[in-house]
Amino acid sequence: MQEKYIDETKQGEAFAIAEKPQNSKKLFLESYGCQMNFSDSEIVASILNEQGYNTTLLPEEADLILLNTCSIREKAEQTVRMRLSQFKNLKKEKPNLTVGVLGCMAERLKTKFLEEEHLVDLVVGPDAYRDLPNLLKETEGGRDAINVILSKEETYADISPVRLGGNGVTAFVTITRGCDNMCTFCVVPFTRGRERSRDPHSIIEECKELWTNGYKEITLLGQNVDSYLWFGGGAKKDFKKATEIQQLTAINFAQLMEMVAVAVPEMRIRFSTSNPHDMSTEVFKVMAKYDNICKYVHLPVQSGSDRMLEKMNRQHTRAEYLALINKAKELIPEVSFSQDMIIGFCGETEEDHQLTLSLMREVEYDYGYMFAYSERPGTPAEKKMEDDIPADVKQRRLAEVIALQGELSRKRMQGYVGRNHEILIEGTSKKNPNQWKGRNSQNAVCVFDKLEGQKLGDIVTVFVHGNTQGTLLGETV
Ligand code: SAH
Ligand code: F3S
Repeated sequence: MQEKYIDETKQGEAFAIAEKPQNSKKLFLESYGCQMNFSDSEIVASILNEQGYNTTLLPEEADLILLNTCSIREKAEQTVRMRLSQFKNLKKEKPNLTVGVLGCMAERLKTKFLEEEHLVDLVVGPDAYRDLPNLLKETEGGRDAINVILSKEETYADISPVRLGGNGVTAFVTITRGCDNMCTFCVVPFTRGRERSRDPHSIIEECKELWTNGYKEITLLGQNVDSYLWFGGGAKKDFKKATEIQQLTAINFAQLMEMVAVAVPEMRIRFSTSNPHDMSTEVFKVMAKYDNICKYVHLPVQSGSDRMLEKMNRQHTRAEYLALINKAKELIPEVSFSQDMIIGFCGETEEDHQLTLSLMREVEYDYGYMFAYSERPGTPAEKKMEDDIPADVKQRRLAEVIALQGELSRKRMQGYVGRNHEILIEGTSKKNPNQWKGRNSQNAVCVFDKLEGQKLGDIVTVFVHGNTQGTLLGETV
C-alpha cells in the first residue's frame, strides 16, 4: 500500500517468500523508491529463483545482497550509500559475499560505483536484469561485473514475477517502462531510458493469472501510464516509423484498461502514475463505465503556477490541469485525486507558492506526496537553471503545503463519513490486531472491527462513522 507521505529516510524494504526447496543459495534483496522498483525486484527475484537463489530477510545469511536503488532525490541516494557502508563489515567477515546495486543509481553512476565504492561487486541498470545470470558468473570468478545498457524494447513481458512481501490480495502489473517526457527536474528519463509499452496480451494473461491465484486488486504501473501505446513493440518514439497497419491497430491506455476490466471483471483495477499532459478524457469515460475500475486518479501537478510549470517543461497550464480535473469530476461522480508537488523549484517566488496553495484548495486532493526540490546532476534544470531557493525557504513553504494537504485530507475524509463503502480487506490494522484495514474505491484507508467469517481479500460493506486526518473509521454492515 502507498505511504501517505513518502519518507525517504525510511529503510528500504526487504522481502522473503517460500520458493524452490532445491535452491541452496540465499538472496537478500532490498528495494528503495517508487513502486516500479518494487515491481522490478519481483522480476529480479524471479530470474534469480531460476539460478538457485531463494530470498532471505537476513543480510547476515545471504550469499548475494542486492539493493534496488532510487535516484529521484539526493536524500534517496544518501540512504542507499549509508546502507552500503553497513555491508562493509559483513563483506570482511564473508569474503564470498557478493554485493550489487540495481536500478536508477546503478544507471546514473555506472562504473563510478565500482571505482569509488569499493564495497560493490556488481552494477546492473533497470533494463539489464536478464543478464544477471551471466554477470553473477563474472563475480563468482572474482571479477566485478556491470551492465547498464538501456533498451528500447525490454519490457520483461514473458517473465512471471515472484510476488514479494505482498498480502496475496493486491499486486502491481507493469505496463510501460521508461519516460520520454523530460520534465526539467527529473532524472528518470536518464536512468530508465526511452518509453516503451508491454504487449497487452501478456498484461491480460498476468492479470488473469493473478485472479486465479486469489488476487483481488491490481495496479497497472508505469512512469507515465496514460502514454501507453502498443503497436507491436519498440520505443514509443518510433511509432511514426511503424507500418500503417501497426499504427491503425495500435492500442492506447484507455483501450488497454477496458480490455483488463473486461478480462478480469471482478478484479479491482487501479493505475499509476498519470501525467496530466498525456491524460485523455477517454480514460475517464472507461473509468466511469466499469464498476471494477477504482474512482481514484493520482495526478501529479508539481506546481500551481504557470511560470513554474513552463520552467519544469510539464507541457500544460494550470487552467488546462483544472479543466482536466473538472472533466473527471463531471464524468466520474465521487472521483478522488492525489498529487505530487515540488516545492522551491528554481526561481519560485512567494506568488508562485501561493498559486500552488490555491490550486490545492481548488482541487481538494485526498492525499499528497510533497517534496522540496532536489537538484539532480545531468538534468536540464541542473544544466540551465539555478537552484536558488534557500533551504530554509523551501522547508517553510513545504511545511505550509503539507499543513494545507493535512487540512484538505481531513475534510475529504469527513466527506466519506455517514455512509456505506465497499472495502477490500488488505490486512490487519497496525494499531489494533482485532481490526482490519482496507481501502475504498477512492483509495481512502478504512479500519473496522474484525467479524467472524471475514477474511483477507473479502470485499465488505462498511458503514463509516468517523475519521482522522488520513483514515476512515467504520463497522461492517
Ligand atoms: N512519472 C512519475 C514520476 C516519478 S518521480 C510520477 O509522476 O510519479 C515521482 C515524483 O517525484 C514526481 O512527481 C515529483 O513530484 C518528484 N520529483 C521528481 N524529481 C524531483 C526532484 N529533482 N526533486 C524533488 N522531487 C522530485
Ligand atoms: Fe519524470 Fe516527468 Fe517522466 S516527472 S518520470 S520526466 S513525466
